Amino acid sequence: MNYARITGTGSYLPEQIMTNHDLEKIVDTSDEWIRSRTGIEQRHIAPSEQNTSDLAEPAARRALQAAGRVPEEVDLLIVATTTPDRTFPSTACLLQQKLGIHGPPAFDIQAVCSGFVYALSVADQYIKTGMARCVLVVGAEKLSRIVNWKDRTTCVLFADGAGAVVLEADNKPGIISTHIHADGSYESLLTTVERQPGTDQERLADGTAFIEMKGNEVFKIAVNTLGSLVDQTLSAAGYSADDLDWLVPHQANHRIIQATARKLGMSLDQVVLTVNRHGNTSAASVPLALDTAVRDGRIKSGDLILMEAFGGGFTWGSALVRF
Ligand code: ACO
Repeated sequence: MNYARITGTGSYLPEQIMTNHDLEKIVDTSDEWIRSRTGIEQRHIAPSEQNTSDLAEPAARRALQAAGRVPEEVDLLIVATTTPDRTFPSTACLLQQKLGIHGPPAFDIQAVCSGFVYALSVADQYIKTGMARCVLVVGAEKLSRIVNWKDRTTCVLFADGAGAVVLEADNKPGIISTHIHADGSYESLLTTVERQPGTDQERLADGTAFIEMKGNEVFKIAVNTLGSLVDQTLSAAGYSADDLDWLVPHQANHRIIQATARKLGMSLDQVVLTVNRHGNTSAASVPLALDTAVRDGRIKSGDLILMEAFGGGFTWGSALVRF
């Protein structure tokens, strides 16, 4: 039996940091409101010339280096993003070109904040069935491009960044199980709205769509859904929360993360929290958090990790992984 193991992680954040105090100069908000409601203190914002594939490239190279692999060894490349450089070619093809990979399949996955978990699930199927042996999975976003910088209810939340993992075939797990879900009937609670040219266009660095969210309604559904999801994930694999070493959640809001940790009976010391420094980087947030905890030595080989995410669609998903 083939299993998929994570053999390397990497991440990249653009240089420019935007603090809550910087946002106080743009919209009617306060550092205190943002910290207490979300846990966010700062976020990284890419300059206009840096696209999603430019963020993905250094993250991918760092993951490959950590795995001891070169780009030519990758036989499948998946990029999870909701902010592709262009409608086409896919960001995965643009990244493939930057990495100098020619021939193996490359495609994007669009599941908003759950995108990385979706991509991990797809990569896992490819490796289990023997269709691939070395898969590069990247979550990368330039959300600053689709944020409405006049809307204080959303612009304080979202940010830019990229994270990546290399998955390789092995005879022991690895990825124990993945669980992915969607319910499109909630599309209106978290969406992008197309604007006519000439309205708020000058506020956008690029593109024509803004994020719009009914935050408190999303909040309640996210807490309940993630609570059920973590139960489903553990029971399907025959594990209990006591077996977990780390929770690596999507970094949308520290109160949602706390609620999931409480549901699992886990101490916050076992939760990888980066939302304070990274904000919500959508598909990039889980691999960014994972790489942070791997590189600072918290996550070690053999640890049992639960990753989970919830986002626009709605989509939600989890991955139980032996690191
Ligand atoms: N600064 C100051 N006040 C604000 C701000 C701000 N930035 N934003 C909203 N407020 C005000 C509101 O106008 C409202 O004022 P009112 O009471 O006078 O009407 C008050 O604060 C409370 O607003 P709520 O929306 O009820 O605040 P809430 O406590 O729910 O926090 C938040 C908002 C942080 C957005 C929270 O609801 C949340 O995190 N939701 C879930 C986000 C999420 O998980 N999304 C899914 C992933 S993202 C993706 O898929 C792209």
